[in-house]
Amino acid sequence: MDRRFRDCLRLNGKLAALALSGNWIGPNEVAASYDALAPGYEENWLAHLRPVTQELLNKVPDIGNIPILDLGCGTGFTAGQLNQRFPTADIRAQDISAGMLAVAKENNPSENITFNCSDMLAFISRQPSESAGLVVSAWAIGYSNPRKILKESFRVLESGGTFAFVVNIMQTLRPVYIAFRKTMQRYPEKLSALTWPRFPASWAAIEKQANAIGFETIDNASGQFEVRAAGEASLDWLLKTGILAGFDAMLPLTDDPQLSEYFEQCLKQQTEPLEHHYIMAVLQKP
Ligand SMILES: C[S@@+](CC[C@H](N)C(=O)[O-])C[C@H]1O[C@@H](n2cnc3c(N)ncnc32)[C@H](O)[C@@H]1O
Repeated sequence: MDRRFRDCLRLNGKLAALALSGNWIGPNEVAASYDALAPGYEENWLAHLRPVTQELLNKVPDIGNIPILDLGCGTGFTAGQLNQRFPTADIRAQDISAGMLAVAKENNPSENITFNCSDMLAFISRQPSESAGLVVSAWAIGYSNPRKILKESFRVLESGGTFAFVVNIMQTLRPVYIAFRKTMQRYPEKLSALTWPRFPASWAAIEKQANAIGFETIDNASGQFEVRAAGEASLDWLLKTGILAGFDAMLPLTDDPQLSEYFEQCLKQQTEPLEHHYIMAVLQKP
């Protein structure tokens, strides 16, 4: 039997066994990844995201002096920008990673920004109905359940309130996805858990859900930007960006030299540049 076919069978068997035993990556594993990379996040990853996040923030309409929620605030770039624009507004920023929040607090000493360490869905579910003027989330709702986040955002917004988000789509950073899939396929026995990423497939998929909930689309855009030329990404750098957050708990990429070498080799073979694909939207509650 051809080795690749055998590897594929072994992988499917392993995936089925992990699914049956309920071995899933959860928010705690994602938080652990971000805790570890938090000190270098801004230099290694936010530097690439910042122009697109800024583009989203420029689309946010003026709001009154009412609370703003920032879901998955990371090191606080968005909260800081909103604080400059709405200096008296109460900004409630939240993230699941204590490490990211520690940097966010240092970056944003303003007393109008409060930081909360929790899962974003749990956090927003605790907010009273019609209590916020703006809910914003940059590059984070795909770690949660976007449909539930849309629903909860609609509930907590007052009439006329805005939900603004940017998120990468599922098909982003393909060379990394391909290298990871090949590594899983080659070493299925080293796989210890599964993940079910909920990054949206497209704007159309999200817009349908948003409209069904009652939101009106004020603005939306899709795009991509190159972060590394073909074959120029390294495992060491990826682990510092958050791109592999949670995935590094599925396969011991850092602790197992056989795995890291194979992954690196697959990554270097990719002929496509590493491009980040995203959608952004500004939605309004009528
Ligand atoms: C790519 S970073 C974006 C951070 C920040 N918004 C920015 O634009 O730089 C994703 C963030 O989502 C956070 N995150 C992941 N899962 C989460 C969850 N379930 N609840 C809250 N935050 C979460 C991570 O800890 C991380 O800080």
